[in-house]
Amino acid sequence: MADFDGEDSYRVLPPTPYGSLLSYIESGGGKGLTAARAVAPETIIEELAASGLRGRGGAGFSTGEKWRTIKSFASPVLRTSVVVNAAEGEPGTFKDRSIIRSNPYAVLEGALIAALAMEAKSIVIATKEAFADEVIILRSALAEIVEAGWVGDIEVRVLEGPSEYLYGEETALLEVIDGRPPFPRIAPPFRRGIAEVVESESDADSDSGLAANVQMAGTEGDSPAPPVLVNNVETMANVPGIIAKGAAWFRTLGTAESPGTIVCTITGDVEHPGVMELPMGTSLRVAIDTAAGGVLRGVNVRTVLVGVSSAVLTADQLDTELSYEAAKAIGSGIGSAGYIVIGDNTDPVSVAAGAARFLAIESCGQCTSCKQDGLEIARLLANAAAGDGTPQDLVSVRSRLATVADGARCSLASQQQAVVGSLLQSFGGQFESRFNPGVTPVDAYLVAELVDITEQGTIVNTSFAEKQPDWTYDEVDSGKTPVERFTDHRAEETLDG
Ligand SMILES: Cc1cc2nc3c(=O)[nH]c(=O)nc-3n(C[C@H](O)[C@H](O)[C@H](O)COP(=O)(O)O)c2cc1C
Ligand code: SF4
Repeated sequence: MADFDGEDSYRVLPPTPYGSLLSYIESGGGKGLTAARAVAPETIIEELAASGLRGRGGAGFSTGEKWRTIKSFASPVLRTSVVVNAAEGEPGTFKDRSIIRSNPYAVLEGALIAALAMEAKSIVIATKEAFADEVIILRSALAEIVEAGWVGDIEVRVLEGPSEYLYGEETALLEVIDGRPPFPRIAPPFRRGIAEVVESESDADSDSGLAANVQMAGTEGDSPAPPVLVNNVETMANVPGIIAKGAAWFRTLGTAESPGTIVCTITGDVEHPGVMELPMGTSLRVAIDTAAGGVLRGVNVRTVLVGVSSAVLTADQLDTELSYEAAKAIGSGIGSAGYIVIGDNTDPVSVAAGAARFLAIESCGQCTSCKQDGLEIARLLANAAAGDGTPQDLVSVRSRLATVADGARCSLASQQQAVVGSLLQSFGGQFESRFNPGVTPVDAYLVAELVDITEQGTIVNTSFAEKQPDWTYDEVDSGKTPVERFTDHRAEETLDG
């Protein structure tokens, strides 16, 4: 592995933010776009595939393969569009906002290269209204690259979406771009794109904007609906270096199956929470030491949450390397590399209750089991943490976990199984003792998105404690799912209108 000192070396997260496009160019920025312009779209895609880059948004899917697939589904009539997923709502994750703050130019340059490869004329940077600083940074960097002539005839816009966790799910993100709430679709992005892009084409003759699950992009040449390429901020930020310096350069860091670097967020019971770019293959223990100054003095690690997307890790797994293959080998995942370190002064049932609540509240309710089983799991775990559980409740938690993902449209429901299920598996004895009436209550453990990481520490979105299952902050929950609330609202609008 090539030398890489996280303090001074970087690929996507410079230790000192670029203050202007000029300083980005002086550091070698812009060469990827120049190189991409000189070759055919297929050559860009093949270089990316050879690099082995894997999506940093959660699933670790091969970026080159994704680009090939989207290209193969291109509509014969309408152009593909490109979307940068800058929604970052995973608890314990702050890496995309860190990259945007330090290096917005690489994200935009990567998206422009993607547009060249897809022959797209439209790019949407989908971020959140709540990320006010990042919106300003992105718009200002965009104005600079437009002024510098990088953008040409490609329309690039920064979208300020809602705060909901589900907005980050790629098909929900597309729904928001189409002007609807963040409810996941059945059709994946390579089968159905963005209606507004369709409508903006003068010769468009498509009704794909009418409903969430209708028109698909096709291979037969008979469907006008175009696909859309969605990639995470960090994925996009890696693209310019690969196209400028080549796949072999990219592979000089990381492992064979997980090449390159990964930007980790380390929070929780650590000395100073932080975000740091490290070569893939670095151990989690080293990541905790370098990015966060180590585990809090005097505290022993009980568990580490990988956001709320994968099985938790235990103290004996801290030497696991940060790679997709190593995480998979221990039955977990990399997620968005947001690691929340939890000491043995925190009860695992309380952690499970916090994670289950987050997922249950954020569930949209399109799939009955996800919302109902999820809420019941969260309620039973919270009761047990409060000292009001019974052995029968633990049986119910296990049985609800078995059904929560039945018929699920997106992977939020199976995240309940991964996170709560792994806590139950690792700390079964503590769960069994806690699910008894009269045990001493323990504090609730808040699992929610990060608002910021500052010198003073992490700022977690504490208002999430007030969020209701219907996605309001009303004192009393309406008992309706977010989908039902929206449907009722639409019906009222139709009656009024
Ligand atoms: C509930 C849920 C939330 C998600 N949130 C995000 C997010 O905030 N940012 C992100 O990039 N991907 C998120 N994803 C993953 C995206 O659906 C998608 O896989 C990703 O944007 C693809 O980009 P990549 O191939 O570059 O990783 C989420 C997925 C799920 C199921
Ligand atoms: S699995 Fe859950 S979050 Fe995903 S679409 Fe279904 S109800 Fe909504």
